[in-house]
Amino acid sequence: MVESITDHSISEFPQTQSLRRGIRTFKPRRSRITKSQQHAVDNPQALLIDFQYEFLNWPHPPTPLYLDIGFGNGVSTLALARQEPDSAFLAVDVHTPGVGDLLSELHKQEITNVRVMETDAIAVLENMIRPGSLAGIYTLFPDPWQKARHHKRRIVQQGILDLMHSRLTPGGFWHIATDWPHYAESISELFARPSNTKKWSRGEQARPERAVTRYEERAISEGRAVTDFHFLVG
Ligand SMILES: C[S@@+](CC[C@H](N)C(=O)[O-])C[C@H]1O[C@@H](n2cnc3c(N)ncnc32)[C@H](O)[C@@H]1O
Repeated sequence: MVESITDHSISEFPQTQSLRRGIRTFKPRRSRITKSQQHAVDNPQALLIDFQYEFLNWPHPPTPLYLDIGFGNGVSTLALARQEPDSAFLAVDVHTPGVGDLLSELHKQEITNVRVMETDAIAVLENMIRPGSLAGIYTLFPDPWQKARHHKRRIVQQGILDLMHSRLTPGGFWHIATDWPHYAESISELFARPSNTKKWSRGEQARPERAVTRYEERAISEGRAVTDFHFLVG
């Protein structure tokens, strides 16, 4: 049942440095939020982490930490966390109803190795993640920003590549999946730049074991092929 509307303005999100001033990879949207999503957001218990200008002190004791950027409704995060109960997953998105969905499923399924953040993942990477500390990053079906004048908002771009690289451990990965051929092409071109091939190697490109998200479902039903990229540091 729809209870209310959430509305965020861009000024609520922390500033970032890896993109040109004023550029964000998302657009805050007015969204309907159900009673149960709102309840989960209002009662996160210890599962929700607030943004801070300090390194994250989680997981404790340290275990391999993975970041899921733009988790949507959290289907992929839940599956990953169940597959790897001894690893930790930090899931970040700006979309409040999805935050509610993921929190309530974490409670329902009694999953304890996930923490959720409702903020700009770029600011999290810049301020809360220690250099060389992440085992892997997932970016599944990032917003394609179709128009050429919006390509500067795409999350897969040089400044973000450099940021991701600095936060991953040697051998750590950035896994990206997209259903938009022109985005896949630009990702391939970007990673093929000589300055990037020195820092990243290309891993197995096949679709790994992962949940089918809402966006992948739509791509399949509309007949678009999905491309998976797996880039490794070093
Ligand atoms: C196209 S959706 C894909 C969602 C999900 N991964 C899936 O496959 O269903 C992209 C998501 O990325 C989120 N997003 C985009 N830029 C972000 C950022 N800088 N920080 C956090 N979330 C972001 C959006 O809010 C949106 O939920």
